[in-house]
Amino acid sequence: MKYIQILTTSDSYTDISSGFFGTAQQRFAAYQGLEYKVLDIGKDPAEQGFEVGTYDLIIASNVIHATPELHTTLKNVRKLLQPNGRFFLQELLPSSPQFMHLIMGVLPGWWLGEADGRPNEPIVSIARWTEELKGAGFAGIEAAVFDDEREGFHICANIIARPAATQSNDYQAVTLLYRAEQKDTVFVQEVEKFLVDRGFEVDGCVLGEIPRSSQDIISLLDVDTPFIDDIQEEPFEQFKTLLDSIGTSGILWLTKMVQLGDVEPKHSLFLGLARTIRSELSIPLATLELDTTDAVSYDAIVKVFNKFQKRDISGQIDPDWEFAFSNGKIQIGRYHWIEVTKELALEPANDNIQAVKLEIGQRGLLNSLRWVQYPLQELGPNDVVVDPRCVGINFKVSHSWRKLSGDAKSIRIFLSRWELSTMKVLDLVLKAQGSSVRLVLKSNISRLETDT
Ligand SMILES: C[S@@+](CC[C@H](N)C(=O)[O-])C[C@H]1O[C@@H](n2cnc3c(N)ncnc32)[C@H](O)[C@@H]1O
Repeated sequence: MKYIQILTTSDSYTDISSGFFGTAQQRFAAYQGLEYKVLDIGKDPAEQGFEVGTYDLIIASNVIHATPELHTTLKNVRKLLQPNGRFFLQELLPSSPQFMHLIMGVLPGWWLGEADGRPNEPIVSIARWTEELKGAGFAGIEAAVFDDEREGFHICANIIARPAATQSNDYQAVTLLYRAEQKDTVFVQEVEKFLVDRGFEVDGCVLGEIPRSSQDIISLLDVDTPFIDDIQEEPFEQFKTLLDSIGTSGILWLTKMVQLGDVEPKHSLFLGLARTIRSELSIPLATLELDTTDAVSYDAIVKVFNKFQKRDISGQIDPDWEFAFSNGKIQIGRYHWIEVTKELALEPANDNIQAVKLEIGQRGLLNSLRWVQYPLQELGPNDVVVDPRCVGINFKVSHSWRKLSGDAKSIRIFLSRWELSTMKVLDLVLKAQGSSVRLVLKSNISRLETDT
């Protein structure tokens, strides 16, 4: 619930009866924007005033089995979800202890599924959920996690499902962009074959040619040698012409690792350029960093490209633009906002914190700044403890952070939004020294200051 609250502007808490709302309202009192609405999920939600095709996440905890027809109910859930949404289904399992029958069996609602092939109990197996979900327009079960690892001890399953991709004569096309000398390389040919085998119609386009309009592009320009580093005038002009003629197409730009693991700094130039192009020209340009360009990466390329093609640039949450395929996993970088007061409340108190103070070795020499241990004095009767929760930092003090990070394993830094650039600098310094930086962002720094 916490993350739903953070990420969305509206959530709905529903039940067939409003009788549960009072308790729920108390339980979720801290969450603003949660609306309580009656919904019979066994009936068409559109007719009950719900906007179909808009929900990012639907959570149903032991509700679906309580409806007369699983098929109809799941179709209604599917109707509410947006195409990239997720359905989190928590359901009792048939292997659940039989006491459930003793408790629930006296209620008429327990037997509602009798005509739905559930005469002895309303709950069904994972195999049946798979079939029911598929029949209702989901892509089967994406993940099922049981509440007990031991076979025969499960009571509940946590199931995640997503809508099936629309098969409606989907015409999938892509332009592969490369330099003339790359055309006959194994990588280009194999990526092309992989895409064709996955049902794509593939157009090749050499840099300097105008790609087909309204068709997304996968760029291979940066997969072997860095494209921007030491770029000559001609390819640079060709690249600018490409951007001018791109129309509504987007580009998925393959490159080497620039943010994770063994990075290739010369390739990271494009990462910065891509961010600028996105923000200044509004061109959908995503990057995919690859730690390998062999067969293992082809599947990742297609998966990321499929996601890229479904981007929703009008949504409230920015689409993911930066991907990295590293050690067999596709990774994305995301910050989630969390208020510092809440974050601090989650942290266990650390009694072993050593006090340090900043000492200047030689006045005027930033390099001589150093952190030294500072033994805490016993408090006197008129002493006041000041417990600072945030400090302002800027580029000038990065030297002192560098010194501090020499010993520290992790450092927490509280930042306002506009100090992010400083963070990047510190991040580089600290990472280079093997420290892990815990980044805590806070949008309203003035409130933080009154906390201190
Ligand atoms: C077993 S309780 C689960 C309650 C709660 N979700 C939990 O996990 O503790 C089943 C819930 O499903 C609700 N329910 C039953 N039929 C429903 C329907 N057709 N549409 C929406 N909710 C329904 C009931 O009112 C009840 O709150």
